[in-house]
Parts: sequence; C-alpha cells; structure tokens
Amino acid sequence: MITNETYQLADGAPIPKLGLGTWLIDDDKAAQAVRDAVECGYRLIDTAQAYGNEVGVGEGVRTASVPRDQLFVGSKIAAEIKDYDGAKRSIDETLSKMGLDYLDQMIIHSPEPWGHFHNGSNHYYQGNLEVWRALEEAKEVGKVREIGVSNFLEDDLENIIGNSSEAPAVNQILFHVGHTPRDLVTFCQAHNILVEAYSPVAHGALLHDSQLEAMAGRYGVSVPQLCIRYVIQCGAVALPKTANPEHMRANAQLDFVISGEDMDYLAGASEVDYGADSAFPVFSGR
Ligand SMILES: NC(=O)c1ccc[n+]([C@@H]2O[C@H](COP(=O)([O-])OP(=O)(O)OC[C@H]3O[C@@H](n4cnc5c(N)ncnc54)[C@H](OP(=O)(O)O)[C@@H]3O)[C@@H](O)[C@H]2O)c1
Repeated sequence: MITNETYQLADGAPIPKLGLGTWLIDDDKAAQAVRDAVECGYRLIDTAQAYGNEVGVGEGVRTASVPRDQLFVGSKIAAEIKDYDGAKRSIDETLSKMGLDYLDQMIIHSPEPWGHFHNGSNHYYQGNLEVWRALEEAKEVGKVREIGVSNFLEDDLENIIGNSSEAPAVNQILFHVGHTPRDLVTFCQAHNILVEAYSPVAHGALLHDSQLEAMAGRYGVSVPQLCIRYVIQCGAVALPKTANPEHMRANAQLDFVISGEDMDYLAGASEVDYGADSAFPVFSGR
C-alpha cells in the first residue's frame, strides 16, 4: 500500500509518499476530511496559513483515529510575511490555531508575496532569509521538525543554501502531467531537497482528458490514480486534494506501475488549461 511507503529526507527522517491536500476545504469541513483521510491510511496532511482552515485541520489531527506522532502535519508561512518577527509570530499562531505542540513541516509558501509572484526584479532574497532564520529557530526549539519552501525557483533556493547553515528539506512545487518542471526537480535532487508535487491532478483540469482516460483504462485505473502515480514514480510526494472519502480511498489505491514508455509520454504532455482557475498565481506563473 502506498500509504505505508515513505521517502527519506536529508536528515534521514521519513516522509509519507502520499498526503492529503486541503486547499479550498472550508474550515468547518476540514476536521472531518482529515479524520476520513487518516481512516483511509493517509499519514501526511498539508495545510497553510493562507487556506483559512488551520483550526479545522488541527482539530482533525487531534481527533483522528491514530496518535499525533504517527502523522506528518505541515503548514506554510503566508507568502506576504517577509520579516523575522512576523514569521516567528505566525509560526506560534499556527501552532495555537491547530492546537498542536509541533509541526512536522513548516515551509515558506512562496518566495514572493502573491501580488508579485515570479514577476519582476524583487526576489525578496533578504526577506526570505529573515523568514528562514525564524524557521531555523523554531526548529531548534522543537516547534517544527522539518523546514522547507514552496514555489522556490533555482535562484531562490541558492539564496537560502548560500546564506544559511541549513538547506530546505523540501520544495513544494506545481508538478503534474502536463507540467513537469524537469530542471527544477533535477536541481532539488542534486541538493538533497525532496520535491513535493502540489496539484498532482492539475487542480482537476485533467480529469476528462481523453488521452489520459485511454491510458488509465489500460492500467484499469482512473485518471486521478494515473496522475498521482506519475508524480510518485518521478520521486515526488503527491498531495491530491479532496474532501470526498471515496476519492481519498481511490487515490490511495496505487498498486500499479506506469511503464517507461508511458512515463515518457506523460512527462512530455503539453501544458494544461486550468480554465477559470488560471487566474491563481500558482497556475498563471505570475
Ligand atoms: N504550495 C502551494 O502554493 C500550493 C498550491 C496549490 C496546491 N497546493 C497543495 O496541493 C493540494 C492539491 O492541489 P489542488 O487542490 O490544486 O488540486 P489537485 O489535487 O490537483 O486536484 C483537486 C481536484 O481533483 C478532484 N479529485 C481528486 N481526486 C479525485 C478522484 N479520485 N476522482 C475525481 N476527482 C478527484 C477534486 O475534486 P473533489 O474535491 O470533488 O474530490 C478537485 O477538484 C492543495 O490542496 C494544497 O494542499 C499547494
């Protein structure tokens, strides 16, 4: 079962290969979604300060059917916070909202505030180093076990690696069939930074793709299963989002192997149209 499988982070700690994404799950639905996911075998739960559901996710973690220490819980420092004091305060706020003593993973949500995402000459290098210092200190005192980043490109990663005592353990990035950021993944692997694939089902945009439906049919699986298996076979953590227990269960049934030829096809698949959701900076790239 994929839910029992883990990768190893740079410090040797295990991280589940499959996790539950919770973006767009309302706070009042999040606790039940987390409990359902844990029942289905999920052990990694991904939230963020920006999702507005840390209270519900924390409640779900605290009331789940397995003990806290068997779960890997992560949140993200809001993209707009680029100073040491703000970052430090926000980590404490997250712990307080979630009702938890520690987080397994805390990451910087984006190198730039969303209004400036990958857009323009200000890379917020200094601000990210300040937030990173707050994360390093939170780790030292046991509030956070692993520290990392999200949406960081090569130059953003080099800024942290070259100016801090500790490299990010993970980089959570947009990664799905139709969007395979090969160079960035290679860079992360070369620096022992584990890649976490967000939007592994392309935010739903690939669900009715006829070519993927045909390929999934040959394996006797669904398009979401094929997409999730793809990023895991690429060596990334997969973070599919759903609050639907049937989808959770299906997404954790990944006992098949995509052939080398099909992996090549999926890696080369052309860019996806996210429709109305293209307006989100993470999909428009700006
Ligand atoms: N770090 C970042 O900047 C960032 C950005 C985006 C996302 N993320 C993380 O990545 C997670 C996932 O990304 P995402 O929410 O964009 O999209 P996603 O997981 O790629 O796709 C979610 C969509 O797929 C559907 N779906 C999932 N499993 C299904 C199944 N078995 N059958 C049918 N439909 C299925 C969901 O519908 P239902 O809800 O109806 O099941 C939903 O519409 C987020 O929740 C978040 O944790 C991080």
